[in-house]
Amino acid sequence: MADLLSLTRGALCECSLLAREESGAGVFLLEFAVEPGGGTPEAPSPGQFYQVRCGSGREHMLRRPLSAHGFALESGRQKVSFLVEAAGWGTEKLCSLAPGERVSMLGPLGRGFVLDGVGKALLIAGGIGVAPLFFLAREMERAGVAYDLLAGFNTGEKYYKPLDDLAGSVVACTEDGSLGTRGLVCDGMAGYLAGGYDAAYACGPEAMMSEAAGACEDAGIPCQVSLDSRMACGIGACRGCVRQGTDGSNLCVCSQGPVFDSRNVSWRK
Ligand code: FES
Repeated sequence: MADLLSLTRGALCECSLLAREESGAGVFLLEFAVEPGGGTPEAPSPGQFYQVRCGSGREHMLRRPLSAHGFALESGRQKVSFLVEAAGWGTEKLCSLAPGERVSMLGPLGRGFVLDGVGKALLIAGGIGVAPLFFLAREMERAGVAYDLLAGFNTGEKYYKPLDDLAGSVVACTEDGSLGTRGLVCDGMAGYLAGGYDAAYACGPEAMMSEAAGACEDAGIPCQVSLDSRMACGIGACRGCVRQGTDGSNLCVCSQGPVFDSRNVSWRK
């Protein structure tokens, strides 16, 4: 592992759970503290991720890639949070951790969102994809970047309530119409894109990001997307996360991304 770690600037660290809160049906906000002496990671930027080990034993060898939802440095102690949907044995195990329990993490990894030169942005989030965009929205508030955020969920029970505390305007929709307008987050997006944005940022299901990317391209607005991919190593060594680029090249999601210019991604139909 030591040789592989030389491929990344992420650090292998031990973290203990500080707080766990169910933020929506089956979705948990988990806040961890980096344990002293357990490695000292850099601060993550929005869009970067961690490879998180969900348990011990051989069946838990593969780590789960989780986008950072937030970061704080308090009295010299690093705190990092994740929004996790309990959707399989690994994430269910994570979501059932008790405060004080420890997990091993490698990170922060990958390339996050780029804000340079952006004065006003549109953020488009689908489901659990809200996690890195919430982090990005907080970063934009610190950097003085204006933004609007479109957020779509299957149902109102999944709505991420801390969105209500953001300084930017948030427009929510649900597929079943139980909260906000009924429909998909990209419905009517062309109208929003007429709002004078310098850039757009999207994270969510593949079909949603593909549609957002197309709408942004039609509007002439650059769009950065955070791709989801199954990952084994998370550091560019196994090539298990590769996606095809529009120029025929292979995009290594974990090391070249997970954030890409949407025009460089060959979208799956
Ligand atoms: Fe191994 Fe990306 S997960 S190369």
